Amino acid sequence: MNRKKIVAGNWKMNTNLNEAVDLINTLKTTTKQFSAIEKIVFPPFTFLKTVTDSLQNETSFFAGAQNCSEYVKGAYTGEVSAEMLSSVKCKFVLVGHSERRTYFKETDEQLVLKIQQAFKNNLQVIFCFGEVLEERKSEKHFDTVKKQLENVLKNFSEKDIDKIYLAYEPVWAIGTGETATPQQAQEMHAYVRKVIGEIFSNKAAENISILYGGSCNAQNAKELFACADVDGGLIGGASLKADDFCKIIASF
Ligand code: PGA
Repeated sequence: MNRKKIVAGNWKMNTNLNEAVDLINTLKTTTKQFSAIEKIVFPPFTFLKTVTDSLQNETSFFAGAQNCSEYVKGAYTGEVSAEMLSSVKCKFVLVGHSERRTYFKETDEQLVLKIQQAFKNNLQVIFCFGEVLEERKSEKHFDTVKKQLENVLKNFSEKDIDKIYLAYEPVWAIGTGETATPQQAQEMHAYVRKVIGEIFSNKAAENISILYGGSCNAQNAKELFACADVDGGLIGGASLKADDFCKIIASF
């Protein structure tokens, strides 16, 4: 097994230009010693080129976009295409984040199209999924996650799956301060790996990186990252503070 260790920061709709520049400059310096860990930040679109320019000489620190359009180009006011992202040296794109599924009503069909656009433009994908509180309370969380994975990933080949990291983000843990316990995270990550094995192969299951997201912070990252099937974290709130993000990276 030689899965990468990954820590990704989703800045969401936060920072202005000065703050984004300060954050990336600080992170570049403070995370230098962690060259064995892949670091990815997802700034707002407006600051993406500034951040990719700043990271151009880095070998283990990359930038990604929080979303991309399912369309190629044209009359889609307000949208940003995968080709545009690629042209500013963006390397990753988040697809299927629960905030986009919930507030912007993104469907599985749209997520498939977005991933196709990402691949056509040489972007790697972090595919997010996770159950809501009701589903966990009624013990439907495994079924929900299986459906979310199958509905989208079945449209891709085993070769494509190399370009995808998965991010299990229980919706009840996102931005709430309530994180999954290491047991809950490990149990779900092992299950996700089993589902990937069923859709593709044991090899694909073994190789795919699965991040945990949802109130992961400098205090709880260590025990989450110690779980056998947790390969890193997708961090929201705590990724906006350089010191916290750095401590999370140091938790491996
Ligand atoms: P959070 O967000 O760390 O603030 O809970 C995680 C995410 O939405 O990716």
